Amino acid sequence: MPYQLIDGKNLSTQILNEIAENVGELKKRSEITPGLSVVLVGDDPASDIYVRSKERAALKVGMVVKLIRMPWQSSEDKIIEIVQSLNNDINYHGILVQLPLPDHVDQNRVITSINPLKDVDGLHPFNAGLLAAGEPRFIPATPGGIREILLRTNNDPSGKHVVVIGRSNIVGRPVSNLLSLKGKGGDATVTICHSRTKDLTDICRAADVIIAAIGIPNFVKGDMVSEGVVAIDVGINRVNAPEKKRGYMLVGDIEFESVSRKAAAITPVPGGVGPMTIAMLLSNTLYAADISRHE
Ligand code: GUN
Repeated sequence: MPYQLIDGKNLSTQILNEIAENVGELKKRSEITPGLSVVLVGDDPASDIYVRSKERAALKVGMVVKLIRMPWQSSEDKIIEIVQSLNNDINYHGILVQLPLPDHVDQNRVITSINPLKDVDGLHPFNAGLLAAGEPRFIPATPGGIREILLRTNNDPSGKHVVVIGRSNIVGRPVSNLLSLKGKGGDATVTICHSRTKDLTDICRAADVIIAAIGIPNFVKGDMVSEGVVAIDVGINRVNAPEKKRGYMLVGDIEFESVSRKAAAITPVPGGVGPMTIAMLLSNTLYAADISRHE
């Protein structure tokens, strides 16, 4: 069966164009230029690439961006001090602290120090709680991107059995909450699986949609899915590939070769979910700027 290859790059370009238009309108209407501030601690090459992509995309849609780089040794208190200065800076409507943070820093304490009205990552417990309570304000970028992918490729999750593999606060848990909400883009029946799940294969075979966010390369194999599944791959894993110039390649949590033979639709890695996350972050930043007018 031919499968639909989901082009996340193309979808994200569409959304970024929509955002650019809305940024222009907001500037005209209220003279507010949406501002995004990004805090990057340390010099992890992967985080550096992500942060620079976010910066480039934000500038392209007409936002202002402030990137604050801090040394890896920075103390938790110093990072929180920077976050608090951004909480008080009216030029920046969104604050993102790039994760992961160094091991000596309590990630939760840093996230909780962000003003929930500027938490464009949607990771503050206040915003996670609003989503769980069915009143979402900032939807974390990856779950939001997945919902857009499903809606914009005619794979509406309504009434479908969605199996989520992974229970992280960034992806697994919020995407489970999001897709089971009442209304457009929701109404799915969601099963959330993790490392302790028994009979994972049986559960995956009963899925209409599989969302893999477990961080294990090629974890979901063709024999674990049913014909016609929609496969959404959140994984970005570096695996050694001596034959490549860089010495590594990126693979997802879904084994593309075997799963694509049974899937109705599938996201590639790279070029699937990844590009969508930046678009959703900027959508949240636009929203943060818009609500700042009413504070
Ligand atoms: N690192 C990987 N994904 C994310 C994300 O969605 N937000 C932040 N802040 N850091 C990340």
